[in-house]
Parts: sequence; structure tokens; C-alpha cells
Amino acid sequence: MSHDLFEAAKAAMAKAYAPYSKFPVGAALRTEDGRVFAGANIEIASYPEGWCAETTALGHYIMGGGGKIVEIAVLAERMAKCSPCGGCRQRLAEFCRPETKLYLCDNAGVAETVTMGDMLPYGFRGDILK
Ligand code: THU
Repeated sequence: MSHDLFEAAKAAMAKAYAPYSKFPVGAALRTEDGRVFAGANIEIASYPEGWCAETTALGHYIMGGGGKIVEIAVLAERMAKCSPCGGCRQRLAEFCRPETKLYLCDNAGVAETVTMGDMLPYGFRGDILK
């Protein structure tokens, strides 16, 4: 991974709105043609209505034209190798391939590299809906 994806996740994490959990998270993803989209978690006083950094990044990605996602970085200020929650794995998988790389980061950079296939085996496949 070029360090820029980690830097994008880190810059996004700095914008997290996480006054309740105090657990800022940043995520960044890169498309095949090199575009980078990032996002942070956003919490709401009505707790279940908040959402994750990965979901914010996906919103930017879709509004930026979508495309094939080739790599994703996730970073949390207070936890090394924070891995996407189950809902975000399913959301990310919608736009990834099993071989898409996911970088679990710590504050210095990439701490572990896994694939989306590793992270979401047997995820729901929407093929039948098409
Ligand atoms: N969170 C993320 O943004 N991404 C993850 O991968 C795990 C959890 C957020 C949701 C909530 O704002 C805070 O972390 C604590 O759960």
C-alpha cells in the first residue's frame, strides 16, 4: 500500500465526530483508477443512529462516481488493527472483490493486511436480487 491511503484514513480520523464513545475511526479506500475516498465515524445522541467510518467513506465513494475498490485502510486512535464491524464488512463487500486488500492499521501505519474474502466468508450475496 502506498502510505497515502493510511494518511488519508488518519486525516479522516481527525475529523471523527465521536463525542459519546470517544473512539475516533478513519477509513480510506482506493479505486482501480487511483481515486481515494475517506470517512470518519459520526455519532448521534440517539446512539443507534450513528454510523461507522467505513460507511462515511463509502458514501463519498459512491458520490464520487464509484468504480472498483482495490484497497481499504482502517485506523482507530485507541485500538491497533481495528477491524470493520459486521455491517460494514457487508457494505464494503458490495463494492469489492474477495481479493480486495484491507489494511488494519495502528498509529504508525499498516499493522496487518487481510482480504475482504478473509473478513466476510459466506457473506450474503445479492445476485438473486438482480
Ligand atoms: N466504528 C467504526 O467507525 N468503524 C469500525 O470499524 C468499528 C467501530 C465506530 C462506531 C462508533 O462510532 C465507535 O467506533 C465505537 O463503536
